[in-house]
Amino acid sequence: MPKLIIDDIPVEVAPGTSVLEAARSVGITIPHFCYHPALAIAAACRLCAVKLLDGPVKGIQMSCALPAQDGMVVSTTDPEALKMRSLVIEWLMLNHPHDCPVCDEGGECLLQDFTIAGGHSRRRYQGKKRTFQNQYLGEGIHHEMNRCIECYRCVRFYQDYAGGTDFGVMGSAGRVYFGRFQEGPLESPFSGNLVDICPTGVFTDKTGRFRARYWDYQFAPSICQHCSVGCNTSPQNFQRETIKIVGRRNDQVNGWFICDRARFDKGYLNDPQRPREPRLDGATCGYDVAIDAAAKSIAEFVRKNGADKLAFVGSTRLSLEGMILLAEVAKAAGGARICYFEDATQQQGSIAAIKLLHEENAAYVKDIEQAQWVSLHAIDLMEEGPMLALAVRKAFLAGAQIFLVGGDTLPPHQALPFKYTAVETLDQVPFEGGGKGVIICGAGGKDPVLLAEMASSGAKLVMLQPGPNGFAAALLAQEHAAIPLAEVVSSRQVRGVVCFEADVPEVLLSDVEVLATADWRRGPVAEKSPIFLPTTTWVESDGTAINYEGRAQCFQRSRVAGLPLKGLDPKYYGNATEAVALHPPRVHRKDVPGGTERDAWQVMAQVIERLGGEVPEPLSGKWHVLKNLDPEGEGVRIFSIVAEE
Ligand code: SF4
Ligand code: SF4
Ligand code: FES
Repeated sequence: MPKLIIDDIPVEVAPGTSVLEAARSVGITIPHFCYHPALAIAAACRLCAVKLLDGPVKGIQMSCALPAQDGMVVSTTDPEALKMRSLVIEWLMLNHPHDCPVCDEGGECLLQDFTIAGGHSRRRYQGKKRTFQNQYLGEGIHHEMNRCIECYRCVRFYQDYAGGTDFGVMGSAGRVYFGRFQEGPLESPFSGNLVDICPTGVFTDKTGRFRARYWDYQFAPSICQHCSVGCNTSPQNFQRETIKIVGRRNDQVNGWFICDRARFDKGYLNDPQRPREPRLDGATCGYDVAIDAAAKSIAEFVRKNGADKLAFVGSTRLSLEGMILLAEVAKAAGGARICYFEDATQQQGSIAAIKLLHEENAAYVKDIEQAQWVSLHAIDLMEEGPMLALAVRKAFLAGAQIFLVGGDTLPPHQALPFKYTAVETLDQVPFEGGGKGVIICGAGGKDPVLLAEMASSGAKLVMLQPGPNGFAAALLAQEHAAIPLAEVVSSRQVRGVVCFEADVPEVLLSDVEVLATADWRRGPVAEKSPIFLPTTTWVESDGTAINYEGRAQCFQRSRVAGLPLKGLDPKYYGNATEAVALHPPRVHRKDVPGGTERDAWQVMAQVIERLGGEVPEPLSGKWHVLKNLDPEGEGVRIFSIVAEE
């Protein structure tokens, strides 16, 4: 463990730690641009100069590229180091347009902080600035190349980290250019990270440009709800619209980055046609009226048909709290059935996975990155868990062998960012020394026997779940002996359903009576339901989700429910007239227009009350430890919680 002195402060760090990181560990920030903890060192910007006064290395050095060594005496405030930093930032800024007022990154970019911290406060350059032609890079990313300070973070991320090939660095000397050979949409499904990684405003999120400034946003720690990886995000909202979604660091789950689906696929959160009012037989009504009607309808149905002819249907997108109360509301209705999955193979595979996984064999992202071999089993990884593809790529670059088993049967959604050997069956993958290998497969829809065979290989396992909260759905389905909806409908075991954020296909609806539906999405089940109760989206509620590796993470409400204050851009409405019609009323009122939505689990709690049942606190009993989960933390694995039963 190297021991050194930085600005008279003794520091002890792990071997391999750079002087910049060592300084940071005792609260000293050395100005830097090109250094990024997730990327390899480039020492491209030359801004992090420090002076080594004594020890094995002497003189001015780039602190990001210098490993801390025993006996080093470092000064970050030495006049020579200060002079160098101020000269470096001055020439880095030579051609920068100083256009912060009109830059969408203004207020969140690091340029101003590090320019001043680097010692450059007066512009001496009087010459003409170099200007570039910007490129069209697709609908996600806007390009403004004049702002570039040549730190090479973008190209190191795009090519080295994410394996993209259509973006890079061109030119030389004062005309270095970061872009594509020809204009066109960026091909990498991780391209959105350029927005986060570029320390200036060269890349900005086109989908939310010029809607608000950083300080205007309402945001909170959240969890991506697009797949079961559970990457950490921070949705940025303004006046009841989700404007941008950015990645949030969690070294146990997604590191620093997220995929483009998480960042750009957010239109559904701002859906102007989203049903926002409770409805009773097609007419809007008060929330309590609708809840009363739902409880009455349930009670009557049970009286006529018996509780076992009724099913309460959830889904893998319900929060853990909702899943727990779904079972309680079924109990309050006299012992109705519970469905968390739509079809039997999904449920079987998911339950098999949660039975097979435990603390030791459930792989998390670091296990994948450090594996000696990785085997992908008939899985379209870019569809089912995109960020894990980057973990596999890391292993591949470190020399791991990658196998794709039965991949030919599945057309890959997008090209994988690593090379692999295609094999037909599991037997052709060499499992020897399984401890350093990882098997990645989708759990839902897989034969439990095959999953068991994989689990017996000794390798670590990734069994991706269908839906963001599939792991929790499987746990609850097992606990309550839930039956897949398709099964109870086709065998005519149930005649009525009550749906909570359930995506029920139309074909199943033709055979059952829908009594009531609570959801924030539009769909056939909402349309068919005589009683409709609007719920909050995941950006409007607090909740808990369990990812594919059994890690419980909580997400927090980052915006209030209700109609957007300004109304969305007319392009989202189809036509401008509709946009005007949907504008919130221009009258003073205490309640938020269109803001009657309630969290699904709260709706369930109210139905339980109306049915005369007791409403338990969802995260009580064995789930109690998740009650005060730190939303900024790394989450907790639930294996020991489940084992305590
Ligand atoms: S475009 Fe941004 S990330 Fe890329 S080199 Fe320029 S400043 Fe750095
Ligand atoms: S990998 Fe999945 S959870 Fe992660 S950001 Fe992409 S869609 Fe969201
Ligand atoms: S941060 Fe060290 S050279 Fe750029």
